[in-house]
Amino acid sequence: MEDATEVAVTVAGRCPGPSVQDIYAADAVPPPAVLRHEAPPRPMSDADIGAERYWSRDWHEREVRGVWERCWQMACRIEQLPEVGDHVVYDIAHHSLIVVRTGPDPTDVAAYVNSCLHRGTLLRTEPGNATRFRCPFHGFTWDLQGRLVAVPAEWDFPHVRPEEFCLPQAHVAFWGGFVFVNLADDPEPFEDYVEILPEHFAAFPLEDRYLAAHVAKVMPCNWKLAQEAFIESYHIPVAHAQTAAYVGDLNTQYDVYPGVRHVNRMITCEGVPSPSLRDVPPQETVRRMQRDLPFHSGKPIEVGPGDNPRTLLAERARRKIGAAAGRDLSGASDAEVLDAIEYFLFPNLVPWAGHGVPIAYRFRPNGDDPETSIMELMLLFAKAEDGSHPPAASCTQLTVEQSWQEAPELGGAGFIVDQDTDNLRRIQRGLRASRKGAVTLARYQESRIRHFHETLDHYVGLAD
Ligand code: FES
Ligand SMILES: [Fe+2]
Repeated sequence: MEDATEVAVTVAGRCPGPSVQDIYAADAVPPPAVLRHEAPPRPMSDADIGAERYWSRDWHEREVRGVWERCWQMACRIEQLPEVGDHVVYDIAHHSLIVVRTGPDPTDVAAYVNSCLHRGTLLRTEPGNATRFRCPFHGFTWDLQGRLVAVPAEWDFPHVRPEEFCLPQAHVAFWGGFVFVNLADDPEPFEDYVEILPEHFAAFPLEDRYLAAHVAKVMPCNWKLAQEAFIESYHIPVAHAQTAAYVGDLNTQYDVYPGVRHVNRMITCEGVPSPSLRDVPPQETVRRMQRDLPFHSGKPIEVGPGDNPRTLLAERARRKIGAAAGRDLSGASDAEVLDAIEYFLFPNLVPWAGHGVPIAYRFRPNGDDPETSIMELMLLFAKAEDGSHPPAASCTQLTVEQSWQEAPELGGAGFIVDQDTDNLRRIQRGLRASRKGAVTLARYQESRIRHFHETLDHYVGLAD
């Protein structure tokens, strides 16, 4: 791992106290170079954002046309399709695709429009394995290459030419073990679309991970509201006050890169107290972190005079995560086993880079309802050294009434996300009750939300 020597750029208008770069400068095992850079947000608009984008059907329809029918979006993980014929159904607004493994190579994947060409029935409603897709209504059947291979009472369809009845397809691309799809006829090349993401993740290859847990829940709010609650750390000292002794929430570094439209980043250090608290003894930081986070639990860690809690916590985490994965993580930096290193890819994928908190989020509209959404939380654990791994987790589906804590595979994360979900229910209602009719964003700590809306404005035709 490369040792960075570059001097960090300092941002005016940030919380006083040590920055992420100050903390990294004191780490025993320093982070890779890509984490030693800052991209302080360029000056962006301070204008309020209209509340109607979170509830109006008109906005939803603009987003369908401008975003969901145009942008690359993550459909599934490659390891969810290990055998030929394995498929998942990817629904986005009223669109539906069957994403299927069609051949021996893991990237032999097609995304077929999930609608029978006879009278429109959904061909699949569940993930599974199939050698052919047979419509349950009258039995029109397509093979894995999308070719029409059977028509019951074929004599009645002299006007149907099989070569013109292949299943329509969406475009498919791959990055980091994810399968992406694009519904446009002629999409922007995927390599251009992902901009700096592959370069940044060269140090954190997500293709070396597998889907160890997967939970989807219907959320009581617009998909953007849900997403925005997970791309800033400003809310943490209030909404998740129980973490303040060990999460450097207000120190978070926000990166919005010049000329980059689809990607941004934040880094929140752990093993340091929130600047919202004064005089937290280092032993207390460690005790609370051990209490809440499985990778740090076990025998109490003693903090001696002059010890950096991050060094002690990272040593423990490196061993535990490495043992769980069957992989040598002894060279991993303190940052990678401790911190929340969270990237964003427009419109809706939030992949984390480290091993300590190996999350990816995805946020989507729930069909065509602008006031509910589907949020997914995936845990991407490291594969073993030889690339082997347990089978990809199947998806636990939670209704709007259910709690994230009903999915025990999330460990302590369920409690935190329930705190967010309770707020999101109130935000959705509160925005409808608002007389102001708009939200006001912080310049620095909510700069990723501003950047997201700039890009959204571009895709719905409100900005260049
Ligand atoms: S609708 Fe599919 S076979 Fe009739
Ligand atoms: Fe939160």
